[in-house]
This record gives sequence, C-alpha cells and structure tokens, in this order.
Amino acid sequence: MRSVRLLTAMLALTIPGLVEAASSLSTGSHLYSSCAVCHQPNAWGSSDGIIPSLAGQQERYLEKQLALFRAGARVDTAMQVVTAHPKFGNHNDIVALARYLSDLDPNPIPVKGTGEHLRVGQETYTHICAACHGPAGQGEAGNRVPRIAGQHYPYLRQQIEAAARLHDDLAPPEMASALRSMSSQQKDALADYISRLSDMLDAPVDGRSQ
Ligand code: HEC
Ligand code: HEC
Repeated sequence: MRSVRLLTAMLALTIPGLVEAASSLSTGSHLYSSCAVCHQPNAWGSSDGIIPSLAGQQERYLEKQLALFRAGARVDTAMQVVTAHPKFGNHNDIVALARYLSDLDPNPIPVKGTGEHLRVGQETYTHICAACHGPAGQGEAGNRVPRIAGQHYPYLRQQIEAAARLHDDLAPPEMASALRSMSSQQKDALADYISRLSDMLDAPVDGRSQ
C-alpha cells in the first residue's frame, strides 16, 4: 500500500494532468457508492425501470441535474435527501460524479414497452423530438441535452407525462401544446420507441424488418 502511495506521489511530480484525471475518476467512483443501492452498481437503473439509468448519460446534463436536485429546483424526495448531504456542497464532487457516470457503458437491455405502436412513436419522435435529442436519441453535450436512447420505458413514460413542464423554458410553445394534446396511447408509443433507440443505431425498426 505504501509503495502505491509513493508511486502516486512520484507520478504526481512528473505527470500531474494524468494523475488529476485518474483521481477525479476514483473520487467519482467513491462518491457513487452511496448511489448504487438505488441506481445499481453499474448505474443501469432499477430492474423495474422506475429508477433511471445514468451510465453513459451526457456529463453536463448530469452536473446540471445533480445541482438542481440539491437546490430543490428539481423535486424528488429520494434524490434531494441524497444530494443534500454536505459532501455535495463541493461543486468538484458533482463534476467528478458526472464524469464517472458519463464514462460508463450504457445499459444494453433497458425495460421496454409493448412494441405495439412503434410507428406512431417513431413519427412523433422524428417530428418533435429529434431536432434536439438527435435522430438516435444520443443527446448533445454542449447544450446539455440528455441522452434518452435506451432509457427505461417506465421512467421515460413518467418523464414524458411531465415533459411539457420539463421543457418549459427551452422548447417553443407549439411543442408544449403538442405534448399536452397527445393521447395517452401516443405517449406510450413515444416512450416505447425511445427505449428502443439504442438498438436502432444498428438496425432501424420501422416495421419493414419484421
Ligand atoms: C433512494 C434511492 C436513490 C438514491 C440513493 C439515489 N437516487 Fe438518483 N434517482 C432516484 C430516483 C427515484 C430518480 C428519479 C427522479 C425523478 O423521477 O425525477 C433519480 C434520478 C436521478 C438523476 C436524474 C436522471 C435523469 O436522467 O434526469 C440523477 C442524475 C441521479 N438520480 C443521480 C444520483 C446520484 C449521483 C446518486 C448518489 C449520489 C443518486 N442518484 C442516489 C433514486 C435514488
Ligand atoms: C428544444 C429542444 C428540445 C426538444 C424539441 C425536445 N427536448 Fe427533451 N429535453 C431537452 C433538454 C435541453 C432537456 C434537459 C432539460 C433539463 O436540463 O432539465 C430535455 C429533457 C428531456 C427528458 C428528460 C430526460 C431524463 O433523463 O430525465 C425527456 C424524457 C425528454 N426530454 C424527452 C423529449 C421528447 C419525448 C421530446 C419530443 C416530444 C423532446 N424531449 C423534445 C431539449 C428538447
């Protein structure tokens, strides 16, 4: 153990940038240990799909959400309790956590919907959502647009219900009204389509392949 510490100290003298990056990742992984009980050790979310997957999420989006929970601007009792912990008072800890999570491999087997109305989901997605979230749902780092491809269906379905509010100050008013007027079946289809988007990066599911 002592020799490891000595080596780290020696490296710090020679290549400080490298050691800094490595230590930020290990801080992130250490901080994440308190989250694993709910989000799971691989950060793929709960097996019922209610607690979201965080692995591979856009780094700056994660930073912003953690800060919002902490400030009470995004309301969720569990998350506010966790992020109210004094250790998250340090912005560097939020940055380290976000970096650690965005580096993890995304969940390849999210909980999906019934698969019944994918074409409706695809149409809605392409018309209203793809402009910002990307055609494959990958999000966009610079503008803090989250990756939604391969997120769990139950979590997405619930977020889409809240989507008009979620997008209040970002999206044009037409979108908020389009979302409000969507039928519940259309929202199911949309969430289902998005939960399958990571598969579609390789093989588009547009009905023809079946
Ligand atoms: C007690 C269970 C619990 C614990 C512990 C927990 N979370 Fe969460 N987390 C949740 C739930 C539930 C949600 C969904 C909240 C919602 O619906 O808005 C969530 C949502 C999130 C989100 C938003 C994801 C998104 O896509 O917008 C982030 C980021 C997050 N958690 C990070 C963390 C981190 C980092 C930790 C540890 C410091 C942590 N969570 C600990 C239950 C938990
Ligand atoms: C104008 C750009 C824009 C459009 C159009 C848009 N979004 Fe978003 N969306 C965002 C941004 C930015 C966020 C992050 C909001 C935040 O930081 O709180 C977001 C957040 C979300 C989230 C929350 C993700 C999470 O992990 O909790 C979901 C789900 C979502 N959008 C789905 C959709 C769907 C479905 C559509 C189409 C009906 C859509 N969005 C259209 C920009 C957009």
